[in-house]
Amino acid sequence: MRIGILSRAPSSYATKRLRKAADDRGHDVQVLDTLRFAIDLASDEPDLQYRGRPLPDFDIIIPRIGASITYFGTAVVRQFEQMDVYTPNSASAIAASRDKLRAFQILSRYDIGIPKSTYVRDRKDVPAAIQRVGGAPVVIKLIEGTQGIGVILAPDADIAEAIVETLHSADQNVIMQQFIDESRGRDIRAFVIGNRVVASMRRTASGNEFRSNLHRGGTIAPVDITPAYERAAVRAAQILGLHVAGVDLLESKNGPLVIEVNSSPGLQGIEAATGLDVAGAIMDYVANQVGFPTLDVRQKLGMAAGYGVAEIVVREGSDLVGQTIDGADLRGKDISVLTLQQGISVIPNPDPHRILQANDRLTCFGRLESMRGLIPDRRKRRVAIDQLPGEPL
Ligand SMILES: Nc1ncnc2c1ncn2[C@@H]1O[C@H](COP(=O)(O)OP(=O)(O)O)[C@@H](O)[C@H]1O
Ligand SMILES: [Mg+2]
Repeated sequence: MRIGILSRAPSSYATKRLRKAADDRGHDVQVLDTLRFAIDLASDEPDLQYRGRPLPDFDIIIPRIGASITYFGTAVVRQFEQMDVYTPNSASAIAASRDKLRAFQILSRYDIGIPKSTYVRDRKDVPAAIQRVGGAPVVIKLIEGTQGIGVILAPDADIAEAIVETLHSADQNVIMQQFIDESRGRDIRAFVIGNRVVASMRRTASGNEFRSNLHRGGTIAPVDITPAYERAAVRAAQILGLHVAGVDLLESKNGPLVIEVNSSPGLQGIEAATGLDVAGAIMDYVANQVGFPTLDVRQKLGMAAGYGVAEIVVREGSDLVGQTIDGADLRGKDISVLTLQQGISVIPNPDPHRILQANDRLTCFGRLESMRGLIPDRRKRRVAIDQLPGEPL
């Protein structure tokens, strides 16, 4: 197969290892400088030029997009997607995970542990925000920071306020986050490929440093993670849509807390710590997935007028409880069940004889009018509108 590695650093450890893994497997591999593409747009014909010449056909690209070129890099990846070239990480997944606020907004909908975090713009809202995330000391993070740069531990509320104000005045967006004291100076990096963690290591900060990034002098050691950590890492990567990801987790007294999901994780540390061939595992995975590029399901399935995708929740006491999927006659109502979620397990294409239980979640494709009566009520907010502070409307 023809594989392109998008990288600005051909001699970096990760790029060299990926190139070798592809070579060893008999693929035709090329390292492509991400910034040397030209994106050409014309009706019905998305195209790419590379160094001023038409690009040959590639089967797979492996994007290694650095934080300093997110905009252009994701545009190039998106163009490959338009040309039906397989990429393990889509442009939108890379963009969502790179922005710490956006990533937390998406993750916070699911039952994945994350440290309490908050985003405010007005200085007057900072003190209350610090209280909501557990009070000082509080962690302040640049939304697009990386390698530990832009992660600050503010010892008290006054200093936190001053830091946030300073960063805002320099046009930097920041989030404030609960400081997980019991995990001070250490975290876990879980390397996710597809639906599993293929390697994991513990990183420990040096001296008084609370950030355990290798670029901040952290040291590494292999670690066996428990199923709870494995599940948090895999789910976080899945939710953000990344099939190759480095997930950073804090070890809190209540279990794993995801703090970051990296779309271009380093390979040197994880391979050195574990002795595992992570580059080879990535190559095997992408070669196996090449026929299944990301498809915008909502866009595809929404093209049939009057049809769409919905999540149906089997409510306690509803007629559906105790029925089989067949018995509930969903097919007769023109509804197909794509997946059935029972607790934390997901059953794809569930057997029509399977019995539905209270709190099951069915992802369905079907006639909107038939599904309307089955979709759950919108979640109620705890605060009534007339309790909002400030002037009455
Ligand atoms: N809420 C927190 N509580 C305690 N330590 C933290 C917290 N957030 C980050 N850290 C430490 O700082 C490091 C860098 O944070 P992270 O969010 O991963 O940013 P970066 O993108 O710069 O790596 C982490 O690896 C961890 O050691
Ligand atoms: Mg990190």
